[in-house]
Amino acid sequence: ACSTPSDGSAPSAVRRVMSTDEAVRAAEAARPSSGRTVSASLRAAPLTANLAGKPVQTWGYNDAINGSLLRGSVGDRLEVALENALPEPTVVHWHGLALANDQDGVEMLTQKDVAAGGSFSYGFRLAHPGTYWYHSHVELQRERGLYGPLVVDDPSETKDWDHEWVIVLDDWMDGVTGTPEDVLKELSGGMGGGMSGGMGGMQHSGTYMAMGSMSDFLGGDAGDVRYPLHLFNGRTPEDPDTVTAKPGDRVRLRLINAGGDTAYRVGAPGLKLTVTHTDGYPVERKDVDAVVLGMGERIDALLTVPAGWTPLMARPEGKAGLALGRISTGSGKEPDPAALPARLGGMVVDGGQLSSASTVRLASRSVDVKHTVRLTGSMMAYDWGLNGRRFDMANPYEGALEVRQGQRVQIDFVNEGMMWHPMHVHGHTFQVGDAGARKDTVIVRPGRTVSVFLDADNPGQWLYHCHNAYHAARGMMGVLSYV
Ligand code: C2O
Ligand code: CU
Repeated sequence: ACSTPSDGSAPSAVRRVMSTDEAVRAAEAARPSSGRTVSASLRAAPLTANLAGKPVQTWGYNDAINGSLLRGSVGDRLEVALENALPEPTVVHWHGLALANDQDGVEMLTQKDVAAGGSFSYGFRLAHPGTYWYHSHVELQRERGLYGPLVVDDPSETKDWDHEWVIVLDDWMDGVTGTPEDVLKELSGGMGGGMSGGMGGMQHSGTYMAMGSMSDFLGGDAGDVRYPLHLFNGRTPEDPDTVTAKPGDRVRLRLINAGGDTAYRVGAPGLKLTVTHTDGYPVERKDVDAVVLGMGERIDALLTVPAGWTPLMARPEGKAGLALGRISTGSGKEPDPAALPARLGGMVVDGGQLSSASTVRLASRSVDVKHTVRLTGSMMAYDWGLNGRRFDMANPYEGALEVRQGQRVQIDFVNEGMMWHPMHVHGHTFQVGDAGARKDTVIVRPGRTVSVFLDADNPGQWLYHCHNAYHAARGMMGVLSYV
């Protein structure tokens, strides 16, 4: 049968599953229900943030650079009233949630964008507990501060911690006067050499120094603020987020990397972290010295608080800089950020290297469909793509990964380049390898192939992409398409 996709693109030979289909409504109805509704509102608007002692103009939700914490329990229906007070259209994407396709917040693919001055009501069932986040999905709006944390509680979970600390990390760099195209142009122009070892467009602080025109193109609002700033809950190390606890208390860290171009290595020097979850799903617990989070990833870990001050550091992988928070037990001397170690060593893991807890491991079965996604492009040309194709929202299904409901799907992400790519799939949680962690975002290192497995149980049209904001904006995206 032939059909014309609702986005007006050319008729294709395949019938794609659209949000209005019974299968999509049935999937939403099958999610757990508590019968409760949690209501929240998000106002996307320009704001003045105080960073490193200077006022800077940027954008955010609810007048904060890292938004508001949205929270509900498994089975709750979350209703969020979005008000768009930005000078341009926007949408909100709920990163990591397996929700109804038409609530996924991808402009053109799953909804019409919300015009400047407009509003939109999101509403969906919270299907699975864990640490998630939300962000604008329009080009580089997220880079201006349009993001925030979202936690889904599990009422049946045994609390083996005394405090919880939700931590959002960000490489805040964009001034509101810099358009995404300006940023991309500046980055590609400034990136001729120095490609070795780093994460993405920006390799190390020296790159910024060399880019003398950075603050010029960002405009007068930039003031004396250095770019980028590494933010820990919207704050710089001069004015760190601080929690208080008693010696011996356990703190559950919910770490979220909202950065656009920075992986963070997080740890408290001299202390172990017990990793418990990644991307919302439990893992076989592991004691480590530090964890690495690619852009979009989350890790939950437990930390036992010693007497005195405990600095919790996030060092950008492959670049200079520091994001910092602190735990205080009310005694001792405050840590001096300048005296902190330059590198967190020892046992270090990222979420893709962990094993899934047996309770969430995929049942073994044969693979029904296998897709290979080559991560292609070069920084020189600044032409990121998947399988050699640059994503075009006007023709989203070209090169789509087609799946059918009920299939076990294997996707091999093959990194042919020299940079890390944190690959993210919307609406699903995949398993890394045979027994790896259940995740929605996984780091694919240079020259490596990462195989992920998912059960096609959430019908619709879902974006998948690199979570480096600049790579995605330049075409490293595609569609996982239920047909
Ligand atoms: Cu957080 Cu399409 O991504
Ligand atoms: Cu990438």
